[in-house]
Formats: sequence, C-alpha cells, structure tokens
Amino acid sequence: MSSKPQSINLKKIPNHIAIIMDGNGRWAKQKGMQRVFGHKNALTAIRETADYASELGVGYLTLYAFSTENWNRPKFEVDALMSLLVTTLKKELPEFMRKSVKVNSIGAIDQLPKKAQKTLKEVIEKTKNNTKITLTFALSYGAREEIVNAIKNISKKVVNKELEIEKIDEKIINNHLYTFNLPDVDLMIRTSGEQRISNFLLWQMAYAELYFTDVLWPDFRKEHLFNAIIDYQNRERRFGKTSEQIDSNE
Ligand code: IPE
Ligand code: IPE
Ligand code: MG
Repeated sequence: MSSKPQSINLKKIPNHIAIIMDGNGRWAKQKGMQRVFGHKNALTAIRETADYASELGVGYLTLYAFSTENWNRPKFEVDALMSLLVTTLKKELPEFMRKSVKVNSIGAIDQLPKKAQKTLKEVIEKTKNNTKITLTFALSYGAREEIVNAIKNISKKVVNKELEIEKIDEKIINNHLYTFNLPDVDLMIRTSGEQRISNFLLWQMAYAELYFTDVLWPDFRKEHLFNAIIDYQNRERRFGKTSEQIDSNE
C-alpha cells in the first residue's frame, strides 16, 4: 500500500464514533475454523481501535457487540459470546483503569445472563470516574427496541401527569433512549463489506457520516481507523445548509 499523503486534522476529530464490528464468522471460516474462533480474535481489533481513538482525542467510541437479533443465533454461539464478554471485561479492567477508559453499556442489559450483568455493572462502576474516552458496548441492543422502550417510559410519565404531551420534543425523546448520556454519532463505521445499519442507533445516526470497509473485524487495525477518519474529514457536513453557508461559517 502506498503511503497516505494526508495526515489527520486534530481539530476535526469525530467526537463520537460508532462501529458495527462485523465479519468475525467469515474471518474464522476463511481460516478453516469455527465461527467462535473469529469472535475470540476480535479483541485485538477492539483494543487497537480504542487506543488509537483515545490517542486522537475521540470522546466516545460505541461498539456494536451483540444485537437483539443475535439472540436468534445457535445457542452454542450465543453462550460463547456471553462468556467471552465476561472474560474480556475482567481481563481488560486494569487496562481501562490505566488508560482512563470509562465503560458504558446500551441495550436491554437485563436480558444478558446474570454473570454478564454482574461483571458489566462492576466494570462500569469501577471506571465511572475515568475521563479520557467513553467506551460504550451495545449489548442485546436494538434501536427499535430502544425506541419502543422510550415511548413506554414517556407514556407512563404522561399518564402519571409528570409530563404534558405538548412538552414532548426531540430532547425529551433523546433523554429516554439508552444513549441519553451520549452525543449524536459523527462517524459510523461498518466492517466486512455489508452496507446496512442492522438496527443500530437509528435515532442517533440521523446525521452521521457512514463509512464502509471490506476489512473483516478481526483484521481491523489502527491504519483502518486512520483511513476512515481521513475519509470523514474529506466530507462536508452540511446539516441541511448550503455549501456556501458552510464556507462562510453562517
Ligand atoms: C460480528 O461478526 C460479531 C457479532 C455479530 C456478534 P459476525 O459473527 O456477524 O460475522 P459474520 O458476519 O458472520 O462474518
Ligand atoms: C450486526 O451484525 C450486529 C453486530 C455487529 C453485533 P450482524 O452480522 O448480526 O448483522 P446482519 O444480521 O448481517 O445484518
Ligand atoms: Mg455478521
């Protein structure tokens, strides 16, 4: 590969990067191995991505680790993913502390096995005062389920007269999503060549830049994140305005 002529503009770093970590199964199959082997080899990619994002000053990194639809996979694979979650969180905790990583989660966490819930809770609690980067794991996460959940909670407040219907606005909806404490997504990356959203952060990605790469997740490294950020920085985010307005800072 020829060396990139460009360097990253540190003044235009996406504040929130969300990643659909896809392709573990195909990566393993290519090596003649079982799908779970791919999941086991995803950790290096996660580490390298989180480290480099943190180094660049990315404030929030959100990783899609398990979707509501992934519960439909064979039990063997689901069990392996859940136990990998527990071992990974335990193993990484000292590194999270050393690197000041604040761990967060989004999704129907109460659907996870008790052991995973407990470990997750502990890691979130222990890392809560870390400030360098917020690393959010989307677990048993589905954007539609998240919106249904928000509507239920908002409706309860209306019924209990804690909230007037007229007061419901985008901010109120935002505050009832799992991501209430996260900013909108600036850059969404999906690996493995699939070009779809797969029920990830539908509300939060309304104005995100989307980046797709053929690299399979276990092979994703610093250079791939570099390429994604360069691509992002070469785009003009107009938010409905004209190019001229953006140029003149209106
Ligand atoms: C992503 O890799 C990890 C999870 C969804 C848990 P996949 O397991 O979807 O891998 P492919 O898409 O089958 O290659
Ligand atoms: C999306 O990947 C979910 C995660 C990466 C956790 P999938 O591999 O499950 O998505 P689809 O089903 O191919 O769209
Ligand atoms: Mg997949």
